[in-house]
Amino acid sequence: MSIDLSTTLGPAWFPTPIFTASGCASSGRELAQFFPLKNIGAVVTKSIMVKARPGRPTPRMAETPSGMLNSIGLQGPGIDSFIANDIPWLVEQGARIIVSIAGETVDEYATLARRLRSVPGISALEVNISCPNVENRGMVFACDPVSSRAVIDGVRRIIGGDLPIIAKLSPDVTDIVAIAREVVNAGADGVALINTLLGMVINTETMRPHLGGKTGGLSGPAIRPVAVRAIYQVHQAFPKVPILGMGGVRSGRDAFEMILAGASGVSVGTATFGNPRATLDVQEELEVILTEKGFTTLRSAVGFAHRQDRQDRQDSPEMSGE
Ligand code: FUM
Repeated sequence: MSIDLSTTLGPAWFPTPIFTASGCASSGRELAQFFPLKNIGAVVTKSIMVKARPGRPTPRMAETPSGMLNSIGLQGPGIDSFIANDIPWLVEQGARIIVSIAGETVDEYATLARRLRSVPGISALEVNISCPNVENRGMVFACDPVSSRAVIDGVRRIIGGDLPIIAKLSPDVTDIVAIAREVVNAGADGVALINTLLGMVINTETMRPHLGGKTGGLSGPAIRPVAVRAIYQVHQAFPKVPILGMGGVRSGRDAFEMILAGASGVSVGTATFGNPRATLDVQEELEVILTEKGFTTLRSAVGFAHRQDRQDRQDSPEMSGE
C-alpha cells in the first residue's frame, strides 16, 4: 500500500516532508547531479541577503564530536543575482522552493520581502532570524522576543497574504516557546526549529580559536536531541502551528523522531556533506518506517508522541484514581 507523504506548512503544500536545510546546499546546483530536486519536498536555499557578501575569514569549519562548527558568515551573491539566476534555475528543475532570507536590520528583511513577493515559483519564505555567525549578537534577532516580533511583523506587512512565512529560531534561548509565540502572533505561518548552537573550538597546538570568526554554529547529530526537545515543546504549546524540524538528521529514523515530536517537515543539512544523496535517502527510509509502523499518511504521525504521552498519563494509576 502506498503512503500519503504529503504535508503542509501553513498554506504551502508539499508532496513529501523531506527538504534540504538552508545553508548546506546553496541553491541546490551541487545536489542536482545526485538526484532530481523535484523528487524531494523542497529545496530550502542558503539565506540570502540584500547585498553580495564574502562571509567570514577562513578557516570556516571545524569537526567536533558527532558534528561540526561552521562560521560561514552568510556568504552569498545578494538578492539581485539570486532572483536572476538561482530561482529560474530551480524552477527549471521542477523543484519546490523555500527561500531563506537574512538581514542586518528589520528594514533589510522588509526589502528582501518586497523583492521576492512577486517572484513566481516560490512556495514559502524562511525568515532566518537566528544565524549565529554575525559580528554583533544583537543581530541574532531570535534571541530577543521584541526583535523577533519586529522582523516578522515587518515581513508580514510587505508580503500580505501572498506567501507563507516560516520563522527560523535559535536554540540559544532560555524559552523557545516564548519566542515562537511572538513570531506566530506577528504573523508567521510556522517555525523552523532549530538553527545551529553557538560554539567554539580552540586549537591546542596554536592555542588560539580555530575558526577565523572565532565562534561558529554547531550542527550534526550532536544537536539532534536539542532539536527534538524544541520541536516537542513548541508543538505542545501550539499544536496547530506547523514546524519545519532540523538539526542532525541523517536517517529516516531521525526524521521520524522529529515528526513524532511535532514536525510537519524535516530538513536534512550536515549529513549532505558526507552523503550528497542524504535528503533522498532519508525520505525513502522514512516512507519504509511509516509503513512498518502502520501509518497510511504522514499527517497522522505528526506529533504522535504527544498523543502517546497524553494516553500514558491517562492510563497511569495516579490519573485513573487507582
Ligand atoms: O554563517 C552562516 O552563513 C550560517 C547561517 C545560519 O546558520 O543561519
